[in-house]
Amino acid sequence: MISDHFPKGFYWGTATASFQIEGAIQEDGRGESIWDRFCATPGKIKTGETGEPASDSYHHYMDDIALMRAMKNNAYRFSVAWPRVIPDGDGKINPRGLDYYDRMVDSLLKGEITPFITLYHWDLPQALQDKGGWATRPTVDAYVRYVDATVNRLGDRVKHWMTHNEPWCVSILSHQLGEHAPGLHDRKVALQVAHNLLVSHGLAVPVIRQQCSSAQVGIVLNFTPAYPATDSAADQSLTRQEHARFNLWFLDPIAGLGYPQDAWDSYGDDVPKIEPEDMKIIADPLDFLGVNYYTRHVYHDPAGGEGSRVLNERSKVNVSDRDWEIYPQAMYDLLIWLGLGYNFKNIYLTENGASYRDVLSPNGEVHDPKRTDFIHQHLTTLLKVIEAGVPVCGYFCWSLMDNFEWAFGTSSRFGLAFTDFKTQKRILKDSGKWFGKVARANRIMEPEK
Ligand code: FCB
Repeated sequence: MISDHFPKGFYWGTATASFQIEGAIQEDGRGESIWDRFCATPGKIKTGETGEPASDSYHHYMDDIALMRAMKNNAYRFSVAWPRVIPDGDGKINPRGLDYYDRMVDSLLKGEITPFITLYHWDLPQALQDKGGWATRPTVDAYVRYVDATVNRLGDRVKHWMTHNEPWCVSILSHQLGEHAPGLHDRKVALQVAHNLLVSHGLAVPVIRQQCSSAQVGIVLNFTPAYPATDSAADQSLTRQEHARFNLWFLDPIAGLGYPQDAWDSYGDDVPKIEPEDMKIIADPLDFLGVNYYTRHVYHDPAGGEGSRVLNERSKVNVSDRDWEIYPQAMYDLLIWLGLGYNFKNIYLTENGASYRDVLSPNGEVHDPKRTDFIHQHLTTLLKVIEAGVPVCGYFCWSLMDNFEWAFGTSSRFGLAFTDFKTQKRILKDSGKWFGKVARANRIMEPEK
């Protein structure tokens, strides 16, 4: 029989990102980031909002920690904003920016919450973008210097480090599809960005280990498992290609397998320029892999040929309010595949969650049974994965509270706590209360109906 308990010492937490929660974009010497510039560009953010105030965690971080404590969480994943630490990207270090994270870390530890830090969750200093950003090598060098300064300051207390969050989003979504900052539409640039990011990751790994004794170092990748809509040869081949472009392109170089050959060939002249040592640098062995899982993609290729390929519409029946299909089986398939085919020592589910149109009820509660059900389904699945022997050591729900959800502004709510953006009051939703019970018991609990 499958136990309903998670392994002893399992990490229970939530995840956030600096630009999505902090606000205070002018405070204590913070420099401009590419997201400030992007938000200021008309039409880029659905609601016309900016990163000010977001959920104003720069001032309300103690309220955030109170939420974690109320949920009995023993871990928290958050990111450091590079433009707070080195406002122009590669110039002077700004100690006041680091002071904020110093206070955060001390307060977390006091609350017996283990900090997991993401070093880059998308807020590149704008000054570096003005010089070509991630498409250029000097940004790679500047990143390594920023990592060095940050880990030097916090590495005596923080042991879990993630170099990057979702390189696919930083490269393809932001430089080819233009949906995120800096909003470019150039596949060749996007692929060079992807490569440079991976190199920056590989260069940062030994720097983190040098600055932090007994560091646990990893990277966070977003996986969207690919399934064919039918068993036609065209659908199968499209699915293989998209799997290679979306998932393997980032995973395989890190695992020492290089870029997937078919995908490489399919990109023609757009493939990135690689320096002689790069692939070795990228493949420095890690302590863990962070996996972000939300949904799957189903692919259909009615006619064949690059131009006519279309993404199959996802099931419109079982979806969150972002139209992302709810399909925990794909998380199972993904983690079993990672467990069998790769040898990461530890895996963390670094993001998983759902957006719904939550409302505050007249008596000040938020009833969000769909979110509870989403997490319940995924945790039940995760337990099966662990039972099958895959070393998943923690689960981080996206997100702690409603925040600035990138191009959707505050219109897309992912929080376990509801944020009233007028007062910045945080209110635990029913899902957060239930998540707290699970974390405290370290086992699956049936949600109350
Ligand atoms: C992920 C991002 C995170 C958040 C969730 C919903 O792709 O890492 O910042 O926006 O999606």
